[in-house]
This record gives sequence, structure tokens and C-alpha cells, in this order.
Amino acid sequence: MKDRLIVSLDLRDLGQIKEIVASLRGIVSFYKIGAIPFTFFGIDVIKMLKDEGVRVMFDLKYHDIPNTVARACEAASQLGVDFITLHTSGGFTMLEDAVKATLMHAEMNKSPAPKLLGITILTSLDEAYLKDLYGETTRSLSEQVVFLADLARSAGLDGVVASPHEIRLIREACGKDLVIVTPGVRLKEIAVSGDDQARTMTPKQAVQQGADYLVVGRPIVKAADPRHAAQQIIKEMEDGHRART
Ligand code: C5P
Repeated sequence: MKDRLIVSLDLRDLGQIKEIVASLRGIVSFYKIGAIPFTFFGIDVIKMLKDEGVRVMFDLKYHDIPNTVARACEAASQLGVDFITLHTSGGFTMLEDAVKATLMHAEMNKSPAPKLLGITILTSLDEAYLKDLYGETTRSLSEQVVFLADLARSAGLDGVVASPHEIRLIREACGKDLVIVTPGVRLKEIAVSGDDQARTMTPKQAVQQGADYLVVGRPIVKAADPRHAAQQIIKEMEDGHRART
């Protein structure tokens, strides 16, 4: 389970990022770099993590015309990242072209291909807003999540990013091979001030539901003792894994 915890480094201070990574050495081996640190520090932050020997989830949530996303996936592959995220709402051709470009790049460079993960519906959007956005005939929120997860699977993506509450539905619809990466995880004992994650689950519950990887940010990076928080989360993930079978 230790390798299944991805710590989200949504920070704008490179010194603080380095401190967190150093304090979690030997415990955490996977980090998520999203729009905030990448906009501030660009490829330097990726290089720093690769030099640490850890894995990187590159979370820029690509959403553009197929050619642009395919070329961006090649560029991300060149950086040596391990997971890349893209919006499934970009459509089948965008997803399929991204898969082809990533696999081709790996073959030509004799390097391992990064896993491609689809974002379905952002957890900040609710069903009422979806109807506002797309009209009354839209599927229900959970039907839309499953539809998009299946679109990702059929286009050849390796997995999806999904809220803890969607894991079971996606597993049932898409099978056991689709990788499910789950944010929105909170330890009951660790409150996060000003938290915007509404529908959370504990690490134990999320793994028990069938999540393959958990993404956790503030409960670790804002903790008084990040190392202790990460250890607690990994322990709960192990409990959840045992409870699964
Ligand atoms: O700090 P926290 O644990 O809430 O961080 C969760 C991370 O996962 C953030 O980087 C956030 O952008 C990301 N995320 C999310 N919900 C999604 C997709 C991604 O919280 N549906």
C-alpha cells in the first residue's frame, strides 16, 4: 500500500516542496504535480522529483483538440512522468490519439509508457449544475461518470480519477483492470481548515471500495507532522485492503 499513496504537492514554494519530500523519504514514493506547482516551477519540479527517485503523477488535466493533447502527452512522456491526466469530456478521438501517441513515444524511445488517466466529472460540480450546463436531457451525475469512465476504457486509457463515492459503480461497469485513482480522502482525526472536499471517505473506506491509488494533499502537507500523517494513512489503507477480501 506504501506505493499506492500519491501525495499532492499543491504548493507555491519550492523550498517547502523539497522539505515535504525530504520529510517523507522512505515512506512516500509517489507525488502529484498539478497546475499550481507546474505553473510556478515548470519542469524543474519534475526533475527534482525524478532525481529523488520517486514516481510522478502529472496532473494538468489536458483538454484540447486531439492533435494538441497527443503532442502534449509526448512532451509529458519526455519528462519521464508516470501518470498523465486528461479530461474524458475531450471525446473519444482525443483520448484514443493520446493513447496512440504515448505508446508510440515509448516504443521509439524504448522507455516505459506513462499511464493515462481520465478525469470524468469534477467533484466540484453537482447534478443541478450539470443540468444547467448541458440541459435537462443530460444523464444523471452517476450515469455520466460511468459513461465517461467507460469511454476512457474503450479508448484505451489505463484508468480514471474518481471520487470515493464513484468507485463501486465504475468497477461494476468497467471491470477490475481499470486503474482507479481517488482523491477526496480524509482521516477522521485530521481536520483541514477551510476544507473544500465535501463528500469524503477515510483511506480505509476508499481502499475497501476498490481504489487502487489514493491522492492525498492537505491532510499530509499541512499536517504538523507530515511523516506521521502519511504513516497513519498508509496503515488505514492496509486495513482497507485486508477488509476487501
Ligand atoms: O488537499 P487534497 O487532499 O484535497 O488534494 C486533493 C488533490 O486531488 C488536489 O490536487 C485536487 O486538485 C485533486 N482532485 C480532487 N478531486 C478531483 C480531482 C482531483 O480533489 N475530482
